[in-house]
This record gives sequence, C-alpha cells and structure tokens, in this order.
Amino acid sequence: MKYTMQNLLKEDRLFSVSQRFKEGARVKDRSLFDLADNNYCDYWQKEAENLHWFKTWDRVLDWQPPHAQWFIGGKTNISYNCLDRHMPALKDRIAYFWRGEYEGCERMYTYGDMHEWVQKCANGLKKLGVKKGDRVAIYMPMIVEAVVAMQACARIGAIHTVVFAGFSSHALAERINDAECTLVITADFVHRKGKKIPIKKQVDEAVKDCATIEHVMVFSTVEESCAMTSKRDVWYHELVEGVANVCSAEPMDAEDPLFILYTSGTTGKPKGIVHTVGGYMVGAYTTTKYVFDIKDSDVFWCTADVGWITGHTYVAYGPMLNGMTQVMYEGAPNYPHKGVFWEIIQEYEVSIFYTAPTAIRMFSKWGADILKAYDLGSLRLLGSVGEPLNPEAWMWYHEHVGNKKCPIVDTWWQTETGSIMITNLPSIDKQKPGYAGKPLPGIEVELVDESGNQIQHGSGLLTIKKPWPSMLRTLWKDDARYRATYFRSPDYDTYYCGDAAAKDEDGNIMIIGRVDDVINVSGHRIGSMEIESALVDHEAVAEVAVVPKPHEIRGEAIVAFVILKEHILPDDALKNTLKKHVVDMIGAIARPETIIFTQDVPKTRSGKIMRRLLREMVHDLPLSDMTTLANQEVVSSLKEHYQFAKSRS
Ligand code: WT7
Repeated sequence: MKYTMQNLLKEDRLFSVSQRFKEGARVKDRSLFDLADNNYCDYWQKEAENLHWFKTWDRVLDWQPPHAQWFIGGKTNISYNCLDRHMPALKDRIAYFWRGEYEGCERMYTYGDMHEWVQKCANGLKKLGVKKGDRVAIYMPMIVEAVVAMQACARIGAIHTVVFAGFSSHALAERINDAECTLVITADFVHRKGKKIPIKKQVDEAVKDCATIEHVMVFSTVEESCAMTSKRDVWYHELVEGVANVCSAEPMDAEDPLFILYTSGTTGKPKGIVHTVGGYMVGAYTTTKYVFDIKDSDVFWCTADVGWITGHTYVAYGPMLNGMTQVMYEGAPNYPHKGVFWEIIQEYEVSIFYTAPTAIRMFSKWGADILKAYDLGSLRLLGSVGEPLNPEAWMWYHEHVGNKKCPIVDTWWQTETGSIMITNLPSIDKQKPGYAGKPLPGIEVELVDESGNQIQHGSGLLTIKKPWPSMLRTLWKDDARYRATYFRSPDYDTYYCGDAAAKDEDGNIMIIGRVDDVINVSGHRIGSMEIESALVDHEAVAEVAVVPKPHEIRGEAIVAFVILKEHILPDDALKNTLKKHVVDMIGAIARPETIIFTQDVPKTRSGKIMRRLLREMVHDLPLSDMTTLANQEVVSSLKEHYQFAKSRS
C-alpha cells in the first residue's frame, strides 16, 4: 500500500484538558465504553430510551450482513423528538440565532416558533398532496426555512433529499430523477457575497427534465419576485395562509427511510445514501451530546451547509434533539469582511464551534491579527470535520481560536455513517494533532490490508466491525452497489469506508485519506469519474483522466488530463471553456484547477485508466508498479509535459 505518512506518525505533542473541564464533563470515566464493549446493543438501547417512542421496539438489532435493522417494531418521529418533546419547557429557548450576510440582518427563532413553523409547513406539504414515503427535493440557501422544510417532511413521513445549492441545475435534475421526487422546495434568491443569485431559476431549468415533479414550493427571501409557472409553482407564504398550525407527527417505523443524501462514489453516478428514522435519530442525538459535551448554557455553531451530511446531523437534527441553541449563518467566511466568523462568535457568545480544516487553513493564511479585534472568550470547545486536520492547522486553531484553552475534537465520519464515529473525547483521552483519535462507544474499528487481514502497526484500510444505529441502510434503488461498495465477500459483515488510516501505540487513529477515486476538495466529496463524465460530455473532448493534487488550503485540488478530439486547438480559451462546462454540469465545487492537454494517458492492457500513476505524478512521487501498464511511452512524455505545464501555471 502506498499511503504512508511516516512523518505524521512521529507526532508526539499531546494536549489534555483542565481538571475543571473533566469534572464538568458528561463523560467522566470509561463506564459508557465499558457498557458498549460488554454489549453494544445495551449501550444503544439505553441511549434510545432517552428519546420519545410512540411504541417501544421489540428488538434492538437485527443484523443480516450487510443489512442492519435497529429498534425493530419501534415507532417514533424525529421532528417530534426535536420539537414536541421539548414543549412546553423549552418553548422560549432560542433554537436558532440566524445571521444574514449583510449587516444588521439577524433573526431569532425559539423552539416555540420552530414548532409552529414546522407544523404549518407540514400542513402546507399535505395541501400539495405530499404523502408518507414521497420524495421531496430541498434546494435551499442557509436559512432557517431549510431546516423547517426538512423537519416538515420528517414530520409527515416524506423522504427529503437535500441538494446543496451550489450544485448546478443539471446535478439537481439528476438527483431529482434518481429519487423520483414529486416536489422541490426552494427559495427565490440566495445571498452570496453581496449578490443575489436567482436560485429558483436553477430549479426551473432543472425541472424541465424531471417528469415526476408536480410542484415547486418557493420561500420568498427578498421583496422582488421571480417567475412562477402557474399551477406548478406555489409561494410558501400563500400556501400556508390560513392552514392550521397544528399537525401531529406521523408515527414512523424505526426502519422507515428518513432521507436520501447523494454523495460521490467511484462511478460517474452519485450514490443515494439512505438513512432511516430510528437509528439515525439515536446516532445524531447521542453523538451531539457526548462529542460536544453539551450543557444547557451552550451556544453551538456548526458552519456546515444543510446540503451536506454535517448540516443534516449537526445543524438540522442533532442539536435540536438535544434542545440546544444554535447559530446559523447565511454567508461566506470573508463577506462582508474577513472577521465575520469571529464577530458572530463574539455577538452570540458561541461556546462550541465546529468547522472544516479548509476554513481553518484559510483563516490562518489571512493571519491571526484579524481575530485580535474580537472577544472569543465564550468558546470552550472546538471541532473539525471533513478532511484531515494537519498538525499545523491544528496548532493554529488551538492557539488563535481556542486561546490554548479549548480542546479540539477532530471528528471522523461520513455521509454513510450518519454521525460521528471516531474522535477523542477530551475528558477521557488526550488530543494529538493530526489524529482523530479513538472510536466512540459502540463503534469498533480495525485496520486491515488489501486481503482483509488485521494490521497492528502502520497504515491500512479503515473498517468498521459492527453495525451501528445511524449507518446507511442501502443505496437508493441500488442495493447491489451498496453491497459491492462497502462490504466484501464472503461474509459481508465488515464495513469498508474507503479511507486509509494509521494507528499509534495508544490506539489513536490518524486518517490518511481516500483510497478510491474520490477527491476531497475543501471537505466536499467529488468522484473523479463524475468530473470525467462532465468533461467528455463536451464536444471537443475525446478522453479524460482526473486526479487530485495536494492543495495548501483546500486539501486537494482537481487536475484533469484531457485528450482532445482531432483537429481541436488546445489553447487557454478552451481550458476555460472546459472548466465552465464542469461547473455547469456539476457545480462550482467541481471546477478543475488545472487542465493539461495530452495525447494519451496511462492505461492497463484492458484499457482502464491508471489514475494511480497520474496521482503519483502530480504528487511528485516516484511512480509505483507499472507491470500492468500497456502504453509505457506515455508515462515519460506525460511527466515532462506535466512539469512543463506546472512551470507555466
Ligand atoms: C470523507 C467523508 C462527515 C462529514 C463531512 C464529509 C473525509 C471526514 C474527516 C476527518 C480526515 C475526514 C474522509 C471520509 N473525512 N472527516 N476528521 N479527518 N478525513 O462527509 O462528504 O461523506 O466525506 O471525508 O475521507 O471518508 P463526506
């Protein structure tokens, strides 16, 4: 295996929390770990009992590898648990402090407000004919209405599929069609860096190709209007005018699907990750509580967009299941100015801040001076997610944001896992820069080699040995792909996450990165084949190979080796056209940073592109095993070509 990071394994700095932190922590000793080690079903069952069930489960777990069912026979509703369960006690507690991106634009939503809104919206959905089991696409900016829409679906048992608003209309249509959604919920405009982006227009473009769509529901965010197609499109405020503000939560089977969230895999087609009501709820609730060591007085800010799993679990559901107060920000970290995040932390006295390594590296590049103008004294715990938090960024976060007093939880998990799997709880374990740490109670991980044999030292494939409640249940309409992607014959009982990792002597896990053809740009997962199919879709392109290369801020950047059709002129204008084409097909997150025109790419005898060699090339690494390479001559010429292209860019 090629993924070694020996220098990182030498890290020996360890950080502990104060005695005071330990004494006040929810997890003070290893008893939860012991309980889970002894019987993980007992551990999860005990956590599930903290939530409301209309009917208790008959059995905790049914595990027929690779399919798990949790809390079988139980009936519950996640929206009920986020809202009704807290009534009337938390009626006046703030659920969200919401900040718009322009000065002075802020709103507060109490649990009482959210309860009323979600019920109204749910009644609105019913008015549009949405029923339990129907799929609803949500394509929204970071406004609280996005959470309202998600919870309204959950309340009536409709399955939501949130599509990040940065995805193009083409990508939106692809997801709507795969899930066969009948409704899209959107907004008229998105505010982004002082501009109003007409997002409803994107939806109009998308639904042209979506035969299953019956309605488009639109939240109005600005005074001006947008084009509405009569009968199909409805304004939310008109729809809910006069509807009842009571809508009782549908008792859902624990194993009913709650949502589908598309994520990239190793083929051109995104995978529809399916999560179910009961298990996901228990995972979101439990991990929020223990990982962030939450207190009633906390103000929690997770900066993720609701379009990603982090925004689902730690913005829309987990914190509300725990009755927490949150901050939600509509805008970018550098608008209206580069100190806006710190201004928000100061203003709302944020105590728990959860963000991505790419943001931390960007802040460090902008310089610590910017932070000095703000009082960040309210912070007590910091979190990171999405990609490896390298030791330099860890130290910067620790020193300049946490003022050397806040522990950092580097949380490893995935869209598929539904909730956090690996991180050191600061009250129990020391923190080690560059390492996510140890698995949470109930989670058992193992590093294995390519043949599935356990590895004690060094690096290997990260696997999960036992099912856990918030694991994905299948891929939407593609159980065969679920089985083939995440499990291996003959037993199909161990989950392969697609990441490589290494372990130190104390059992701390360092995540190295993906071992498949998935690229992680700023914590966003993009399949190399998705980008390749977008590029070959362009008339000038004959063939493409896409690989990641290291990027100082974003973790990885996209490099595309492009073979043009004959007689096409390889100039810079075409490079820009191709980049734009990818943005149109997928979205801005997939824009290649570098395009290299070439005559050929390395291939196996059976014609498979050997991305591994290209990856090594752009990483300036020695090229590994070339025995299966069919076209030897291409490698040296490409290497020269790449060096030349690099020297010019
Ligand atoms: C992939 C999952 C889970 C929320 C956001 C991303 C990478 C995630 C870490 C971490 C190193 C990480 C992995 C993983 N990743 N967290 N703490 N350290 N890498 O969700 O889009 O499903 O991506 O993100 O490669 O497999 P996602």
